[in-house]
Amino acid sequence: MKNSGKTTGGKCLRIQKSGPLCGRCAVGTSKNAVLPMLAAALLTREPVVLHHVPDISDVSDMISLLRTFGARVSQSGHTLRICARHIKTTSPNFHISSRLRASFLFMGPLLAREGCVTMPLPGGCAIGRRPIDLHLKGFEALGVKSITASGHVLAWRQTLRGAAVHLAYPSVGATENVIMAACLARGKTVIIGGACEPEVCDLIGLLTAMGAKAEVKDGRIEIEGAGQLHGAEYTPIPDRIEAGTLMIAAAVTGGDVRIDRAPHKHLMQVTSKLVEAGAEVFPYPGGIRIYGRARTPMDIVSSPYPGFPTDMQAQFMAACCVLGGQSTILETVFENRFLHVHELIKMGAHIDVRGNTAVITGVGRLCGAEVKATDLRAGAALCIAGLIADGETVIQDIRHLDRGYEHIEDKLSSLGALITREV
Ligand code: UD1
Repeated sequence: MKNSGKTTGGKCLRIQKSGPLCGRCAVGTSKNAVLPMLAAALLTREPVVLHHVPDISDVSDMISLLRTFGARVSQSGHTLRICARHIKTTSPNFHISSRLRASFLFMGPLLAREGCVTMPLPGGCAIGRRPIDLHLKGFEALGVKSITASGHVLAWRQTLRGAAVHLAYPSVGATENVIMAACLARGKTVIIGGACEPEVCDLIGLLTAMGAKAEVKDGRIEIEGAGQLHGAEYTPIPDRIEAGTLMIAAAVTGGDVRIDRAPHKHLMQVTSKLVEAGAEVFPYPGGIRIYGRARTPMDIVSSPYPGFPTDMQAQFMAACCVLGGQSTILETVFENRFLHVHELIKMGAHIDVRGNTAVITGVGRLCGAEVKATDLRAGAALCIAGLIADGETVIQDIRHLDRGYEHIEDKLSSLGALITREV
């Protein structure tokens, strides 16, 4: 897929202080569900068709990498057809793979199908060290050997054998990589301590549609290796992080918004924090209505699912900047996920970072400023801050936002936000 170019790219976003957001919009498909599925399409020689694929640059980058590996990819609207009949394990373009962490998810499928892979170390947001040791330990348990040198990982195997894989931390990426490799291993793999994010379960959904025998049982993930997988057609889940971002935008402006496709059951922590802060949240069949204003300070601790999502931490911090009192945010997943603090301070926020805790003292008002989207969710946080700041906020480096939000300014402006993209 090529980005439509309609609202991606361009210089910056300009946001004016906006009134309460009101109206109805719909969330797109989960970026974090789609990206591993694009990698999983390499597990079969037959076509995999994915519907409702979002028009975001991370998807375009994954498609470029799929083509490097010899897959044929065609697009009709938001439907993608990937056919990996013949694949090659060429080391992919370093610049593309270093742009996104999900590039490393090709490792599991390529090891399973081809047996020997060279991959550049993955990139993604600059939010911490982001090592790959858990991926490699997981592969090692299945019989893979690897060497890391000169910014690349070389991995190879004789026979992939199912095994007990103990993950010391529920890394989403490592869990997904091991699940995909285990699908074509000999015998049964049991992942203990793996991640149970909705996007991991959705990947298992696609793999099951492809003929894999995988399930989450008693908190463990069990995969019975199959000789081969077949093609499938699948619609991934809606994006809980996009939905949560829109919910906060509504709550900080005191709006009234219906968000179609917002997955209520995946948003329990986000909902309970917003309700605690004073907003009203009502799920309806197929979406969520949020109205009222968040006013009360919050204490948030990010942690693996079903805990509070690290991907929502920055957006909540933007909201906390104007709440009446002191809020705290403890980030436990990533070591350096406070890059947005500096940008929010430029807008007049009072934030004190002590180790991995941010203490936010609510101020009466924020002021528009020129700020930088230092990473994907930081960009979303600045959009939220821009909606409530006096005057104009100009967000530079919006390529980070385009990695994961499809036409964010269109969705926000359809709700009454004063936001435009300068091209
Ligand atoms: C993480 C989030 C996921 C989010 C995504 C994008 C969690 C558990 N994961 O997934 O919800 O959608 O970012 O922002 O909240 N780690 C290692 N060794 C490894 C792999 C990871 O030490 O081999 C560590 C990381 O440094 C990090 C933590 O585990 O501190 C979580 O990483 P991981 O879950 O792998 O990150 P993502 O898969 O990108």
